[in-house]
Amino acid sequence: MTTDTTGTAARDGEPRRGGPADSPFVRACRREPGPHTPVWFMRQAGRSLPEYREIRANVPMLESCRSPELVTEITLQPVRRHGVDAAILFSDIVVPVAAAGIDLDIVPGTGPVVAEPVRTAADVERINPIGRDDVSYVDEAVRLLVAELGDTPLIGFAGAPFTLASYLVEGGPSRTHAKTKALMYGDPELWHALCARLAEVTLSFLRVQVDAGVSAVQLFDSWAGALSEADYRRYVLPHSAHVLAGLAGAGVPRIHFGVGTAELLGAMGEAGADVVGVDWRTPLDVATRRIGPDKAVQGNLDPAVLLAPWPVVEAAVRRILDEGRAAPGHVFNLGHGVLPETDPEVLTRVVALVHELSARPAA
Ligand code: CP3
Repeated sequence: MTTDTTGTAARDGEPRRGGPADSPFVRACRREPGPHTPVWFMRQAGRSLPEYREIRANVPMLESCRSPELVTEITLQPVRRHGVDAAILFSDIVVPVAAAGIDLDIVPGTGPVVAEPVRTAADVERINPIGRDDVSYVDEAVRLLVAELGDTPLIGFAGAPFTLASYLVEGGPSRTHAKTKALMYGDPELWHALCARLAEVTLSFLRVQVDAGVSAVQLFDSWAGALSEADYRRYVLPHSAHVLAGLAGAGVPRIHFGVGTAELLGAMGEAGADVVGVDWRTPLDVATRRIGPDKAVQGNLDPAVLLAPWPVVEAAVRRILDEGRAAPGHVFNLGHGVLPETDPEVLTRVVALVHELSARPAA
């Protein structure tokens, strides 16, 4: 018996039935039929859960990301509570950037804040390559989680070069990404050097997670929707494609997600994803026509709908499952992260409803 990088025990080359690689989530990512439409929520581990707020009460965000025990507990919380079909590693997109030597913090209610923004060639040189030893707490947390989760798959993730570059160039969150775009248009050579460095950091961070046993990876390019398709193709796609191509042989599905990306869905699929994440603005059947028949889709309930009365939520879930039938594989999710004010009971009910409405008799 051998163990491959997906953490799936294999005998005579046959995947073991029942392991995470045979889960409804991984099957849907691979466009294979399964017992029901799988569901998980971006930002499911976080501030909507009282047990999360309790455990995080006196621990700063980055410190909690560096504690394998805390990461394991926080990652498991939504799995226990909601019965979601996948866990997502508790971490943040800026964790590998901090490991690469950039001085930054995650400020509650604001997000990542960078001490010295990256705007010159010398600044780009400050971004060091990373390896397993620089993020050993992530390696350890993934191994602990894979052992705890059994058949439930664990999703690893990282930020894509554009979204990471935006935080580094702006120095923090930005509505317009004006400084980022000024660098991109004004000094394309420096821009590509910055994104190439970030792509290496991201790829290394994802490889550590894959080697430790995650069953899928998601590349978050949350802010890519700020770009036109032409600019996305010219300034961003090659760098995201480098990350995704670097994982092509890893044996785990690759999910690629951004917000406001209606015009970019085809290009984001071309960057090398197996699954394209869709926000709530584009119906999944329309998205599928843009992405093409050889990729699964993930999404796309508006997170704000969860704040409405249950009949509204139920109708939206039914509509999304219907629209998702146009795709060759559908992973139910929100169109962006869970809002902190969401009632966790509603998330639990959504999981049960998705499972009930999508149940397929065993083949
Ligand atoms: O999805 C999950 O449950 C896993 C954990 C996760 C976090 N951040 C934890 C977190 C994931 C996948 C992320 C990714 C992330 N981080 C993205 C991409 C996804 C997206 O939302 O678009 C981005 C852009 C970031 C950067 C970032 N970090 C933001 C915008 C914020 C929120 C700022 C705020 O407080 O409103 C953070 C902080 C953060 N990351 C929190 C959590 C649980 C909140 C920290 C806290 O509890 O105080």
